[in-house]
Amino acid sequence: MGGRDRCSCRMFLAQSCLHALILVVVTTVMAEEGCDLVGEEGSESPKELAILKRLEPLTNISFSTESGSDNEQYTYKFRVCREVAGEKPNSGLVQINNQSGKMAVVGRINETHLASGSKWIMLIYKGGDSYTSRCDKEKRKAIIMITCNRTSLATGFTMVTEEREKVNECFYIFELESSLACPPEDLHLRVDSPHLSVGSILLITFTSLVAMYIIGGFLYQRLVVGAKGMEQFPHFAFWQDLGNIVADGCDFVCRSKPRNGPAAYRGVGDDQLGEESEERDDHLLPM
Ligand SMILES: *[C@@H]1O[C@H](CO)[C@@H](O)[C@H](O)[C@H]1NC(C)=O
Ligand SMILES: *[C@@H]1O[C@H](CO)[C@@H](O)[C@H](O)[C@H]1NC(C)=O
Ligand SMILES: *[C@@H]1O[C@H](CO)[C@@H](O)[C@H](O)[C@H]1NC(C)=O
Ligand SMILES: *[C@@H]1O[C@H](CO)[C@@H](O)[C@H](O)[C@H]1NC(C)=O
Repeated sequence: MGGRDRCSCRMFLAQSCLHALILVVVTTVMAEEGCDLVGEEGSESPKELAILKRLEPLTNISFSTESGSDNEQYTYKFRVCREVAGEKPNSGLVQINNQSGKMAVVGRINETHLASGSKWIMLIYKGGDSYTSRCDKEKRKAIIMITCNRTSLATGFTMVTEEREKVNECFYIFELESSLACPPEDLHLRVDSPHLSVGSILLITFTSLVAMYIIGGFLYQRLVVGAKGMEQFPHFAFWQDLGNIVADGCDFVCRSKPRNGPAAYRGVGDDQLGEESEERDDHLLPM
């Protein structure tokens, strides 16, 4: 009885812990990200949440661009999931009239919508200030197309167009280029390839080939030919000969004094001794 009680108590504790943990994680995520998606906490789209996470490195960058015709010039300010203008609550993208200095909110971060494809992310801010006469006096809406550019985290923020001739459902279109919109494998390539020079690629290839030769040859000699000891190395005799030739060549080129000069220096039985010790070594080698 007591045991079961303790067990269920422990389970209850574990569950409470889990819930508390989930709550902490959710609240920190919400606190970090200023974008509010459709739905209450916990019922938001997992796809949108995933894109939101992807866009996080952009959140502390402020973007600005100018657009307009001769008579009316506007400056647009934009941030990802952060307020652009403190005096306008939840403003994610604002339009400032250069002559009058009047500011209109084009889209708000508390009405964010997200979608993505293989090479783009679409960020939509709805709930901007209402049109005064056009577009059925609906609220302004900003669509920001973020396209893949592997060279930069964020570049080329521009105002493309404003569609305000429609009866309703008008919108502003903006463009932004970012490496975050690139496919993951492309991102990986972008990070890695600049560090690999032609020389290091050649070196890696050469090293791999040598390793393949030694391992493959070793296995062949051991398993197919049935060689033992040093003979297991592929083309052992050839490499031994080559080593000797190179050593002789080096000897010939580098040595400044004749090799066999002081005979007393080289012991009489030196050669035999060398051979003997080599033979003895052979027994020591595995197999
Ligand atoms: C953005 O945040 C990162 C780290 O969170 C920081 O290193 C960087 O300086 C920030 N950039 C700007 C423009 O504030
Ligand atoms: C977003 O924020 C604005 C300004 O604070 C507010 O008027 C609007 O109702 C909010 N929208 C939603 C969906 O909460
Ligand atoms: C518009 O205003 C911005 C700053 O608010 C300024 O940098 C820009 O030069 C102005 N453009 C024109 C055409 O006046
Ligand atoms: C990517 O951005 C750089 C500037 O950072 C620009 O020079 C280049 O043209 C862009 N590439 C593409 C494909 O748009």
